[in-house]
Amino acid sequence: MQTVILAAGKGTRMRPLTESTAKPMLPVVGEPIAAHTAQAAINAGASRLIFVIGYEAESVKEYFGESYQDTPVAYATQTEQRGTADAVRAAKAELTEDPFVVLNGDNLYDVSSLESLYVSAPSIGTVRVENPSAYGVLEITEDNESESDMSKRVSGVVEKPANPPSNRINAGAYAFPEAARGWLDVDPSERDEYELTDTLQQTCESVSVTPVDIDRWLDVGRPWEYLEANEWKLSECRPRFEGDVSPDADLRGSVVVESDATIEPGVVIDGPVYIASGATIGPNAYIRGATMIESGAHVGHAVEIKNSVLRSETSVGHLSYVGDSILGCNVNFGAGTTVANLRHDDADIKQTVKGERISTGRRKFGVVCGEGVKTGINTSLSPGVKLSCEARTEPGETVTRDR
Ligand code: UTP
Repeated sequence: MQTVILAAGKGTRMRPLTESTAKPMLPVVGEPIAAHTAQAAINAGASRLIFVIGYEAESVKEYFGESYQDTPVAYATQTEQRGTADAVRAAKAELTEDPFVVLNGDNLYDVSSLESLYVSAPSIGTVRVENPSAYGVLEITEDNESESDMSKRVSGVVEKPANPPSNRINAGAYAFPEAARGWLDVDPSERDEYELTDTLQQTCESVSVTPVDIDRWLDVGRPWEYLEANEWKLSECRPRFEGDVSPDADLRGSVVVESDATIEPGVVIDGPVYIASGATIGPNAYIRGATMIESGAHVGHAVEIKNSVLRSETSVGHLSYVGDSILGCNVNFGAGTTVANLRHDDADIKQTVKGERISTGRRKFGVVCGEGVKTGINTSLSPGVKLSCEARTEPGETVTRDR
C-alpha cells in the first residue's frame, strides 16, 4: 500500500538537537529515525513511500533518493509547517486513487503490529496506556461481545479528555480509505494547526475503522525520547566487529564496531554499544550501554561514557564522565568535564522544553548539548541542563541552568 511518511516538521521540542537537523534525520544506531520508520513500513507492506518534507528537506531527499530498499520513493513539499493534515494534503498529488497509510517519520513501530495495520485497513494504530488523559483517546464501539479487535470499531477520537472514553490512544499510524483524500481540508484546531485527527474523525463517521494494537511504539518528540529510541534499537543489535579492535581491548555483550572505527588498547566496552565508522576510542576508555558513537567522534583516555549519544566529530578527550546524555555534532568536552545524571533526592530529572519545566520520567538523565558546544576544563554540568549550539563554559564552572 502507498505510504506517506511525515517528515516536514521543525521539531522545536527537540532543540537544540534539531537546530540544523530535521528530527526524522536524527541518527538511531547509525540510521535516521525515519529510516527505521521506512524499513518497518516496507516490511509491513508499503509498496511506495511518499515523504512529506519541509524543514531541512534536502537531507531527507539525499538520504532516501529515488528508491529505498527497492521501494520507490517520491517527495512532496510542505512549504509552511501548518500541521499533519496540511502535510498529507501536500502529498495529495502524489497519491494514487487507492487506500493509503500515513506514518510519522519520527515514530518507531514494531513491524508485526504495523503489518496488522496494513491488512486491517481502514484502521488506526493504538497503544493502551494507564493514564490516557494527556493524549488523543479513541472512542471504541463493539459490534458484538467478542474480544477480538476485528469486532471493534473506532467511532471517534477525543483530544486530551478529562474523562477518557477508553485507555487506547492514537499512535499516529493510519490506514485510510481512498475517500480520505477528500477529507484533508479540515478546519484549524485550537492550536491553529490542521490536524490529521480531524480527517480521522470524518473517516470514522463515514466508514468502519478497526483499532489495531501497536505492541511497541515510540513517539520521539523530546530529547529523552531520542535517548530511548537509541536504547530500543541498540537492544536489537547483534555483535559485529569490522573495525580495528586492539587485542588488548575487552568488548562484552552486544557491541558493533563498524569498519574504519578504531578501538585502542585498554578500552572496555559493555554493550549494547554502537561505534560508527571513523570513530576512535581509547586508549583506556570505558563505554557502557546503551551508547551510540557516531562517525569521526573521539573518546580518549580515562573517559567513561554511559547510556549516551555522541554525534559525529564530537570529542571527549580526557578524564571525563558522560552519563545519560546527548552531545550533538562537533562538541568538545574539556579535560575533567563531568556530567551529573542523578539527583540526591532521587526525584525524576526535569528539563525545560519550549519554556516549560517537564519531568523526563527518568531518575537518571544528564545533559543535552547542541552542535559546537565547548566546555572548559573541569566543568561540572547538572542533570537536565541544555546547552544551546556553540555555547561555552569557563574552566572550573558549575552549570546548573540552561544556556
Ligand atoms: P510533531 O507533532 O512531532 O511536530 O509531528 P514537529 O514539528 O516534528 O515537532 P515539534 O512539535 O515542533 O516539537 C509529528 C510528525 O509530523 C510531521 C513531523 O515531521 C513529524 O514526523 N509534521 C508535523 C509535518 O510533516 N508537518 C507539519 O506541519 C507538522
